Amino acid sequence: MVSLFDSQGLPPSEERLEEGAVLLRGFAAAEAPALLEEVARIAQTAPFRHLVTPGGYGMSVAMTNCGRVGWVSDRNGYRYDPVDPDSGAPWPVMPGVFLDVAVRAAAAGGFAGYDPDACLINRYVEGAKLGLHQDRDEKDAWAPIVSVSLGLPAVFLWGGKRRADPVRRLRVEHGDVAVWGGPARFVYHGVAPLRHGQHPLTAGARINLTFRKVF
Ligand code: SIN
Ligand code: FE2
Repeated sequence: MVSLFDSQGLPPSEERLEEGAVLLRGFAAAEAPALLEEVARIAQTAPFRHLVTPGGYGMSVAMTNCGRVGWVSDRNGYRYDPVDPDSGAPWPVMPGVFLDVAVRAAAAGGFAGYDPDACLINRYVEGAKLGLHQDRDEKDAWAPIVSVSLGLPAVFLWGGKRRADPVRRLRVEHGDVAVWGGPARFVYHGVAPLRHGQHPLTAGARINLTFRKVF
């Protein structure tokens, strides 16, 4: 009998990156238009901005947040802040459709009961990139990062637990969701410079949602 599942026990659209990490192809495709509508709504209250790194460089990726806290960077370092430093107001509430996709994707990746308190929203235009890094500003060191790709495709860089480890280049497309936690929580990852393109829902941009359990 031909199995619907591969030797790792996953449906063919799901790729196990390593223990604790999966790439769920097309997982959020159906919800994508609703997710993007919410991104537009959030950006009206908390506009995308280019944060400055502690080293004084402006990031090429534009960012905003929703949820109980938001990830921010400035000359003093990285932190989670309950208010948007640009406005002094709390970050927009995390929309129900965000939470729903994140919780279901986490469960599909083996992390039941996910309860994210932050969603960092990244906007990439042609040439924007994110260098290899670990997500390590969260107190919860086991709960997964859930990363939803929307709009233009990108090359997601998937390394190892040490910066010098070999890096895989994975094409991520509209609706793909990566989940990494537990033993894979501190894997180095990043995004290669975005290639020029046009997408019916996001024009010349890629939008990425990254959910985190901070506390
Ligand atoms: C991130 O690491 O915060 C974002 C990754 C991505 O844009 O795919
Ligand atoms: Fe990250």
